[in-house]
Amino acid sequence: MKSFSVLVLLLSLVTDVSGTVNDTPQQVVTKYNNYKTICTGLGYKSTQCNSGRTEGPVVFQSSCKGTLENLKTSETVKFNQVSLNEGSAYSTTTGKFTAPVDGVYSFSWTTMSNTGEYFITEIVLNGIPMAYNYTDSRGLSAGHSMASSHANIKMKKGDRVWIRTHQNYGQNAVCGNVGQWCNFSGFKF
Ligand SMILES: *[C@@H]1O[C@H](CO)[C@@H](O)[C@H](O)[C@H]1NC(C)=O
Ligand SMILES: *[C@@H]1O[C@H](CO)[C@@H](O)[C@H](O)[C@H]1NC(C)=O
Repeated sequence: MKSFSVLVLLLSLVTDVSGTVNDTPQQVVTKYNNYKTICTGLGYKSTQCNSGRTEGPVVFQSSCKGTLENLKTSETVKFNQVSLNEGSAYSTTTGKFTAPVDGVYSFSWTTMSNTGEYFITEIVLNGIPMAYNYTDSRGLSAGHSMASSHANIKMKKGDRVWIRTHQNYGQNAVCGNVGQWCNFSGFKF
């Protein structure tokens, strides 16, 4: 890929420069190498055109405040507050993350359930499950259980990812008065 772009650059230099100056292709290459040495010495770096990154990082960190009880089948789990939302791709009102550009994105989420109850979730890409998690406190006579899961997902610009209940197993999630026990976060590689 790199040698290809160098070749393209060389060819365009050859056609550009040799059209106006009477340099041989070998002289053009020598000049190019000299310019390149100077530029590198000044601290410039070679980058490829269209490397895909438009502007800034895309990263969010959200959490859900309060208690979630008996959610419906495939109901969106809305992590209703953010502590970080660079790129504004996550919405606390819909609970959905919308890819601002094509790329591979990484997501993690955590929930806690009350003694004797469960909260089973999945992460979906445009409604298709990509990974699951099973927070189950049914075997406990005291205390709570907390579970996390993770998914790396290839997305096209405009694709959406969110957390929802697996079937109707959204019985109980205890997220705490500041949302400290339920989090959803993600970023673009
Ligand atoms: C999901 O939940 C279970 C608990 O039921 C936990 O053991 C597991 O590590 C979690 N994460 C993944 C990636 O499955
Ligand atoms: C979860 O969210 C709470 C509240 O915003 C925050 O204090 C905590 O650091 C978060 N935990 C993780 C692992 O992101």
